[in-house]
Amino acid sequence: MNGLKDEHIPVLAAILAGQISLPQDGVMVDATIGHGGHSFLFGKQLGPKGVILGLDVDEKTIQRAQLTLKDLKCRVILKKSNFADIDMQMRQYGIEKADFILADLGFCSAQLEDEEKGLSFMQNMPLDMRLDKSLSTTAADIVNNSDEKSLADLIYKYGEDRASRRIARFIVESRQNEPIETTGQLSNIVCKALARPGRRWTKIHPATRTFQALRIAVNNELENLKILLDKSEDLLAVGGKIAIISFHSLEDRIVKYNFRQNADRNIYKILTKKPIVADRQECLSNPRARSAKLRIAQKINKYETTD
Ligand SMILES: C[S@@+](CC[C@H](N)C(=O)[O-])C[C@H]1O[C@@H](n2cnc3c(N)ncnc32)[C@H](O)[C@@H]1O
Repeated sequence: MNGLKDEHIPVLAAILAGQISLPQDGVMVDATIGHGGHSFLFGKQLGPKGVILGLDVDEKTIQRAQLTLKDLKCRVILKKSNFADIDMQMRQYGIEKADFILADLGFCSAQLEDEEKGLSFMQNMPLDMRLDKSLSTTAADIVNNSDEKSLADLIYKYGEDRASRRIARFIVESRQNEPIETTGQLSNIVCKALARPGRRWTKIHPATRTFQALRIAVNNELENLKILLDKSEDLLAVGGKIAIISFHSLEDRIVKYNFRQNADRNIYKILTKKPIVADRQECLSNPRARSAKLRIAQKINKYETTD
């Protein structure tokens, strides 16, 4: 792309590009513009009458996307916005229907490294996790103020960690000594909670699930995704396609359910019976691709109300 140090490599890009072709005057809504890598690929298919509307909750990524997309021929509109407001943003720019809606969920590699975001358990940073700085609750607020049962429920529900009760107990005990303010502190507490004599961590870091749970809660990720999917059905042109790349099973389940429901109502045709995953080569060159799952559906009919 542009050779910058914190470059984000778009996942499943070649496969996606093989599945979607846009007309020259097509409209793409990239609900998670990030660094603009995916949009750049599709933007090359568009002529001067084509449009890309790119949304992101993180102002910083929008600046990066501007750089990536600056030489495209089509009109590029980039806006700081939650994709839950996709309908409002499309209306604001006079876009009635989209030929392609893409959401590549989660976060960019650069956001993981960004101290301000406070997402990483591999580095010591302030425990924040808000991708959108206008949100009011940080991960530190949750771990320092929630009661033990609510914490355990959250870690179980959004992290699917069976040791959630034990982790919550360790968090509550630890914060009695001092507030938990950094990702390093939280990571150490979770490691202690899960340590057993002779146990070695092989597949994933022990704090992975707890961090995932907090990030989902802080950013209201699952609710926003449901809203995006519900609204997209109406915002797609007939013949248009929606593609969602998810990174954990909670997200993937929501996408699968939405596509199935719309297929049952004869509104969508599901183009990916099973989610598309990255091949070995891509997983080796881009570790983020390992957990990526891509689902695509095409709108075949409008929903008609009979009254
Ligand atoms: C994996 S990155 C997207 C990368 C992008 N496809 C690219 O090629 O550069 C995910 C992006 O989604 C953004 N994001 C997460 N939740 C969002 C939401 N609810 N609304 C809008 N953007 C969101 C993040 O800030 C992040 O920039």
